[in-house]
Amino acid sequence: MKAARLHLLLHVFLSAGVLVHTFEPFTTTLVVGVGAALGRTIYNYLHESCDSKWIVFNATGLQVDLESKLFGQHIASRIILKAVTGFMNNDNPKKPLVLSLHGWTGTGKNFVSQLIADNIYKEGMDSSFVHIFTSELHFPHLSHFDTYKSQLQQWIKVNVTNCGRSMFIFDEMDKMQPGLIDSIKPYLDYYEKLDGVSYRKAIFIFLSNAGGDGIIQAALDFWKAGRDRDELELKDLETVLSVSVFNNKKSGLWHTSLIDKNLVDFFVPFLPLEYRHVVECAMAEMKARGVRPDQNVAHQVAKDVVYFPKTERVFSVKGCKTISSKLDYYT
Ligand SMILES: *[C@@H]1O[C@H](CO)[C@@H](O)[C@H](O)[C@H]1NC(C)=O
Ligand SMILES: *[C@@H]1O[C@H](CO)[C@@H](O)[C@H](O)[C@H]1NC(C)=O
Repeated sequence: MKAARLHLLLHVFLSAGVLVHTFEPFTTTLVVGVGAALGRTIYNYLHESCDSKWIVFNATGLQVDLESKLFGQHIASRIILKAVTGFMNNDNPKKPLVLSLHGWTGTGKNFVSQLIADNIYKEGMDSSFVHIFTSELHFPHLSHFDTYKSQLQQWIKVNVTNCGRSMFIFDEMDKMQPGLIDSIKPYLDYYEKLDGVSYRKAIFIFLSNAGGDGIIQAALDFWKAGRDRDELELKDLETVLSVSVFNNKKSGLWHTSLIDKNLVDFFVPFLPLEYRHVVECAMAEMKARGVRPDQNVAHQVAKDVVYFPKTERVFSVKGCKTISSKLDYYT
């Protein structure tokens, strides 16, 4: 992406050069004029701004990415595509989009957030309109609860004022102090404006392990019954999710009023990954690194991963999380 931009820039320089050259007899005014225009152009190329040059949703891109880069998550993939596409294509949403992603480590929750960002912001996760909060990093001390609360509100308010199309990702929701998330509740609601600021075009994504155990159990039951994993549907997991998410005192946001008020638009389950998905992850990682994907290497990597439960060894303990470093070892 950076290379493309530099190329464009070079192009602008060259065209300007040709222009100046062609109109040599003209006064310096022209040159100055061109210089100023050039300055503005360069500034626009280099500085991300909150407009359609930098923020363009690519529905096809998201679909292709979900299909080709995310493995073993047919349910999540479907929900995410529908939810994000519907929201982004609506010029006048009644509330911000609020997604809550659930599942164990390495199943792709962070990765999906990245795919969403990649297909909305030219700069992807590097965009200055994408904000990530990690409980342990941003809100580590129990005693600072009140400070965090107002800080969080301020961050969101200032950032959304700056750009309505902002995205906020809350990682490790289950480690967040109970009640902290309550402070942002008004921003997720159906208000037209709060203190003159509209939050309706923003996207909030919550990531957590809450519900992970239940999802695993459901997937394992399916596997034991010899049923095809792809037949698993959201409704098979909804009860599991709601029980562990809503009743679990440890899950951070869940006994807050976010749920009572239906402010979360979609609860998205992430399934535990099997051997074949780990192979797919390894193949994709090689491709991403620009080396020829090698089935043998991929299988070697997948064999090196730890699986559970102990007897059946069906699901990868860390999903696809350690694939990258394992690849370093085998290639
Ligand atoms: C959208 O994504 C598709 C698939 O990745 C890509 O071919 C296309 O060029 C993208 N469109 C824009 C406008 O970036
Ligand atoms: C915007 O959010 C970020 C967190 O990503 C925070 O560090 C920053 O201070 C916020 N900006 C303002 C102006 O509050």
